Amino acid sequence: MPLPIEVTRGSLARAGRVLAIPTSPGKTRPQIGSGADALETLEIDAKAALTRDDAKGEPGEVVTIPVGRRGVDTVLLAGIGDGSPRALRKAAAAVVRRSNGSESLATTLAAGQDERGVRAVAEALGLASYKFQRKSEPKPPKLQRATLVVDDVAAARDAVVRASATIAAVHTARDLANTPSLEKSPQWMVERAQEMAALKGLGVDVWDEARLAAEGFGGILAVGRGSTRPPRLLQLTWAPEGASRHVVLVGKGITFDSGGLSLKPNEGMVAMKTDMSGGAAVIGAMSALSALGVRSRVTALVPLAENMPGADATRPGDVITHYGGRTTEVLNTDAEGRLVLADALSYAVANLAPDAVVDIATLTGAASLGLGKRHGALFSTSTELTGELVAAADYAGERLWPMPLVDEYRSALDSPVADLQNIGDPETHFSGGAITAALFLREFVGNGPRKVPWAHLDVAGPARADGDEDEVTKGATGFGVRTFLRWLEAT
Ligand code: BES
Ligand code: MN
Ligand code: ZN
Repeated sequence: MPLPIEVTRGSLARAGRVLAIPTSPGKTRPQIGSGADALETLEIDAKAALTRDDAKGEPGEVVTIPVGRRGVDTVLLAGIGDGSPRALRKAAAAVVRRSNGSESLATTLAAGQDERGVRAVAEALGLASYKFQRKSEPKPPKLQRATLVVDDVAAARDAVVRASATIAAVHTARDLANTPSLEKSPQWMVERAQEMAALKGLGVDVWDEARLAAEGFGGILAVGRGSTRPPRLLQLTWAPEGASRHVVLVGKGITFDSGGLSLKPNEGMVAMKTDMSGGAAVIGAMSALSALGVRSRVTALVPLAENMPGADATRPGDVITHYGGRTTEVLNTDAEGRLVLADALSYAVANLAPDAVVDIATLTGAASLGLGKRHGALFSTSTELTGELVAAADYAGERLWPMPLVDEYRSALDSPVADLQNIGDPETHFSGGAITAALFLREFVGNGPRKVPWAHLDVAGPARADGDEDEVTKGATGFGVRTFLRWLEAT
């Protein structure tokens, strides 16, 4: 369960067993603002501690003062640098990691902050305390609750309610993506989504393999056919009354990517239980729409398949027919994400009359080679949508970086036998694997009679973290959930 976060006014001194007090850079030593009264009450010489540790007040820096009296275990002096949301997230996450072992944490980090600052602090506290365990004797987390001491309780409470919904949504996405693929079949994903949808008042529709075949979803079927666990297409709907626009979110849902017959080496395969992180982000985001009062109509599509090299697997050289009739020559079965996304994008454009389509996928290693592990690659046919998504990511604490859809590279996807081939022809030497993948997807949203503003988020880098860092925890990160929620709340 996500960390419960309370809001209160008044003295910090009795609000928790760990007390975190913000410090900012000063001339000779960091300055203490809110929370100084608690130091007085507890008779703590903070100046001495800051000097001893040569503290600077930079975000992430924590000076620990053991207390052990008046119900307080520890005081943490947490640097907040310039006090920006990003710095506050860093500080809040550092404080959570230092309060391990105590059951409650209280802080004035959010005092004097606007709604955005309060939300940044609350979200980072919740997100940094995430744990995924499958131990025979699970260790329950010691930290049971956090309290924010603020000036304006009414204003902060709304920000904390929104933060808590966001935290739960990110945790949902992380849980789905961290679940081992032995447990996580396409049908298992459908069942988790159904449970969530029933709780959150969303509509659900599911295509099983028979319905996928009857309706021509050849991409999803081609990727799923090497597995004993059949593919699915999941649709979730949020349809508030009076919605003026319709947004479609599409998330790649490969529950395990072995590469198929174009088998990955073991090093490339170990992380591939998280190859449904895009789908998980979409499902996670959908879970918070009612709590956040999102006014747009939102439809989520998650094509789900396990990419395995079974006896009936798709072979390199096979030609498949996508939803809507376009054909693809599969030259590499490891470029499977675009095959399932193509079906879902075609379906969305043909049947849902969307005002915008945004897909999210752990699509190419090339995206993380280019941009590193912290940024998602953003491709879009609309400068307006690009601006909205970059701004939403920035507000929410994620990072998206615009990338070009280079028309000249499109010829790399020409197939001699089909409409498209699923990997760029090495002979054309364009390289840019994330770009050619995006160009492949664009064929399924940009060429039809209806041109729909479309954006594609390649999150192969930031969907996973190699270790704990700020509000992100090792393993699946739930990347994209915060951006989607902010975008849908704000536009
Ligand atoms: N799921 C992978 C992409 C990926 C790689 C995600 C590493 C996260 C970390 C995707 O299905 C894939 O295998 N892409 C290939 C495409 C290639 C065959 C054109 C890749 O990136 O190597
Ligand atoms: Mn692959
Ligand atoms: Zn994949």
